[in-house]
Amino acid sequence: MKRFVVVNGPNLDLLGQREPEIYGTRSLADLARAVRKKAKQLGAEVVLFQSNDEGAIIDFLHETAPGSAGIVINPAALAHYSLALYDCLVALDVPVVEVHLSNIHAREEFRAKSVTARAARGVIAGLGFRGYELALEYLAGL
Ligand code: DQA
Repeated sequence: MKRFVVVNGPNLDLLGQREPEIYGTRSLADLARAVRKKAKQLGAEVVLFQSNDEGAIIDFLHETAPGSAGIVINPAALAHYSLALYDCLVALDVPVVEVHLSNIHAREEFRAKSVTARAARGVIAGLGFRGYELALEYLAGL
């Protein structure tokens, strides 16, 4: 059975409460449900992780991603500056899809640049929860 790793970065634990006009009113638990449902439909296993700590995310990926069929990651603000996370994603040699709930190209200028995106096969931004589902569908088809 294929195993996918789905990671959410800093402040995504506040989904549903945080700027709902941008990120929606559904919570991280709702997102986890949607991701698990999609993985089940695809006949795959999924491991989910969220942390506000860059190092914890990197440690989690080191431990969990090797041997997996793909990583779906919303690095949140880490996308805009974390070269350590970029290096981690490159080092793992597992296909990566980067997801952003909001359209980072239609917001503040600093959000348009993602340093981690270079490590990804593709980036989905602005499609909300659907982005995670589409990323899983893509990875399942590899
Ligand atoms: C985000 C966009 C980032 O710019 C921001 O820092 C986030 C969430 C998104 O999902 O739209 O925390 O990654």
